[in-house]
Amino acid sequence: MKVLVVGGWGMLGSDLVAHLRSAGHDVMAPPRSVLDIASPESVAEVALGKYAAEWCINCAAYTAVDKAEIEPDIANEINGLAPGYLARACAMSGSRLLHVSTDFVFDGSSDAPYDEEAPTHPLGAYARSKLAGEHAVLASLSTAVIVRTAWLYGPNGSSFPRTMIRAWEAGKTLRVVDDQVGCPTYTADLARTLGDLIALDPAPGIYHAVGPESMTWRRFAELTLAAWRTVRGDGREVNIVSIATEDYPTPAKRPKSSVLSVAKLQGLGVAPMRPVAVSLAEFCQRVGNSQEPV
Ligand SMILES: NC(=O)c1ccc[n+]([C@@H]2O[C@H](COP(=O)([O-])OP(=O)(O)OC[C@H]3O[C@@H](n4cnc5c(N)ncnc54)[C@H](OP(=O)(O)O)[C@@H]3O)[C@@H](O)[C@H]2O)c1
Repeated sequence: MKVLVVGGWGMLGSDLVAHLRSAGHDVMAPPRSVLDIASPESVAEVALGKYAAEWCINCAAYTAVDKAEIEPDIANEINGLAPGYLARACAMSGSRLLHVSTDFVFDGSSDAPYDEEAPTHPLGAYARSKLAGEHAVLASLSTAVIVRTAWLYGPNGSSFPRTMIRAWEAGKTLRVVDDQVGCPTYTADLARTLGDLIALDPAPGIYHAVGPESMTWRRFAELTLAAWRTVRGDGREVNIVSIATEDYPTPAKRPKSSVLSVAKLQGLGVAPMRPVAVSLAEFCQRVGNSQEPV
């Protein structure tokens, strides 16, 4: 299929482009200098012109969760309004749109996994802007698909595992939040899931797609460093101190428990993602093999 990946140079987008190409799709990934989704003119010109595709997958976003608290208007332009421009361009070109969203649309006050129908209640400016983007997409394109994911990590961007590795390599004692729960999701695994989903020509609507295990940030740090030490053959010990959310104040409030149910996706026959330890091993291998510093 002909697929336009928007934000194809970001952490998720780059793994998605690589996966879709290896699966034989004809993938276009214009850089932000060619397609600025915050500009309705740019979106119309690109998405309706030579980049018109059967599927448009939007991985572009303003992802600075804490900075969004001081520049909510910029976050809203990119996350709240721009997905609507894309949806309208897709409606005109007859393209389907898969828009990537987030677990942050929930407040995390429920310990039970959130399904796609669960009431939303975003806690901060980034979260509100992402929810506005969902609404803009659904209002503008009846065939649109929204995929909410969470706790993303991949080798082509900054992420929690990378931060943990860097701190451990620097010999620091790690103080890690142990009372927030979520589902770590590896970009290469999510890329496969998104590829499987579009191949199924799914019904419009919202889908949740996350890794198969829920855990705290502390447990995620332990698994990350176990994988990293194996890849590096480094037996140095790991010192992790559990802390509470209150001990690590951030400008934007995070959901306490944002486990997403993937039952709807698996009901379509999409395979679950790999266990976190397996995906982390591959992630660490790729980070370790890269010429870039951790
Ligand atoms: N990271 C997470 O933990 C997480 C969790 C849940 C959901 N998500 C969602 O997953 C998606 C992918 O996230 P990610 O972590 O891969 O993000 P990322 O690495 O920050 O990549 C976002 C990409 O969007 C591009 N972009 C930003 N504004 C743009 C604009 N106006 N026009 C065109 N491109 C623009 C960025 O380009 P520049 O580099 O030039 O700015 C970047 O390449 C997002 O929708 C995000 O909300 C992420």
